[in-house]
Amino acid sequence: MRRSTIPIGLLSLAIMLCACRKNPPSPPAPKSTAYGSAIVESSGGKQIAAAGTTLPQPVVVQVNDDAGTAVAGALVVFRGPAGVSFDPPSGITDSSGQFSANVSLGGQAGRYQITASTMTKSQKTAELRVDEIALGYQQILGRRLNDQYCSRCHDPESTPERVSNYDNLEVKPHRFTEGDTLNKISDEDLLAIISHGGPALNRSPLMPPYGYTLSKSDIQALISYIRIVSDPPYQAFGEVYAQK
Ligand code: HEC
Repeated sequence: MRRSTIPIGLLSLAIMLCACRKNPPSPPAPKSTAYGSAIVESSGGKQIAAAGTTLPQPVVVQVNDDAGTAVAGALVVFRGPAGVSFDPPSGITDSSGQFSANVSLGGQAGRYQITASTMTKSQKTAELRVDEIALGYQQILGRRLNDQYCSRCHDPESTPERVSNYDNLEVKPHRFTEGDTLNKISDEDLLAIISHGGPALNRSPLMPPYGYTLSKSDIQALISYIRIVSDPPYQAFGEVYAQK
């Protein structure tokens, strides 16, 4: 019976591996030992990631008492619309009053509103809402084109890979997140200024024409990206997946 020797070897290996695994499948639900009166964002809001992926940074929240002092030992629970998951979904604030979770966005492009809540002493719920943005295929292309062609002028911040040209410009362009300005420009006008340059909208020629460099679908991808990152949100990309 030669054939059985290998499976038995594999079986004992499998048993050894199983024995090494930590036993409890899910830890007991965390219990709060303290209560705050408010929950605030420390970091991690307004991040941008591809739909269906995990945000680059964790979302960190802090529980405070009436005096604004951090509260350790308070229970925080994260919730989100369908498709969003949290690791871990709930837990207890640490000695600095903070709790953090890694957040994976749903598979659909859009703006996701997530909620972090904590129970107050008087058994009320204190809530914090944080928006995160999931890019679809077209917007991911738009983001790539933005990195390649636009951000050196439209993003005032320099990175190690790219020195911003913003400070050298006599007329200042806007960040594409500046919804107060960008939301007022129609899709047609965005198409015109990106294709034909600033003068197409009676603006400065410092905004170059891209109609020769980029295809119309590239420019549409850029517009789609500009719309989804805008803050306040562009109507068509409102809190679409937030309500549930
Ligand atoms: C060389 C610098 C430069 C580059 C590169 C550049 N822009 Fe601009 N852009 C400008 C300037 C300057 C303005 C402001 C013009 C004005 O207000 O008169 C502007 C204006 C705009 C506007 C109108 C809204 C605003 O910011 O005032 C849009 C939309 C725009 N650019 C899109 C793009 C896109 C998309 C790209 C990349 C494909 C791009 N720009 C690349 C300099 C640039």
